[in-house]
Amino acid sequence: MIAQFTVRHYKCLGSTNDEARRFVLEGAPHGTVVHADEQTAGRGRMAHTWFSPPGNLYLSVVLRAGLPVSRSAELSFVTSLAVADTVEKLLPRQISALLKWPNDVLVNGAKISGILLEQVDNATIIGVGLNILQAPATSTYRATTIVANGGIASVDTARDILLERLAHYLAIWGDAGFEFVRHLWLDRTYPIGAVIRARMGTLSVRGQFRGLDFDGALLLHTADGLKRIVAGDIVGIL
Ligand code: BTN
Repeated sequence: MIAQFTVRHYKCLGSTNDEARRFVLEGAPHGTVVHADEQTAGRGRMAHTWFSPPGNLYLSVVLRAGLPVSRSAELSFVTSLAVADTVEKLLPRQISALLKWPNDVLVNGAKISGILLEQVDNATIIGVGLNILQAPATSTYRATTIVANGGIASVDTARDILLERLAHYLAIWGDAGFEFVRHLWLDRTYPIGAVIRARMGTLSVRGQFRGLDFDGALLLHTADGLKRIVAGDIVGIL
């Protein structure tokens, strides 16, 4: 899929995903990007808020990929590869990014980025937050920034690299399909067999990581056998 991005830049928005939703409803084309210097109501997955002071990257990309909703999750793996490349380009050479299911990007074990996918009519909105200068002090997970890991970047440079890498992986996904993307993603996550804990709502289950299913579901070998987890989070590696 060829993505020509048109960036609409704002100093401050509630949430770039909410603004992108308004644009979708007005008929905004494929490739529209909403970028804000700060957000006053940034949203994360599972109804969390997303810490959004100036100095970090906040953007939402509108894609009209003509995908059934059942396949839109594929875009979260496509996007996390693009974010991981961006992070590695901004950091000293020896530091690599690790992918954590479903779409977190970690550096030295701490979260540096978040991705929020939303479907509006036949469009997918991909929201990306990347901590460049500031990270939240949260008790639920460790967060970090590009600068704290010895990297340097202006927000606009980070945005341009991210959009270039996103176009790259969207093209791979379009040409070679999700199966190829799935392998690229697996190369940058925990090794198969790692013991992890996954959380689905209030439930949590421990097991051996067995990879990703054909549709992006997490495969976990638990005491009760092989489980397919379609929605949730990895909360720990043991
Ligand atoms: C997560 O919980 O990990 C996902 C966080 C996604 C945050 C980004 S910042 C840009 C876009 N606008 C939002 O309100 N959220 C996403």
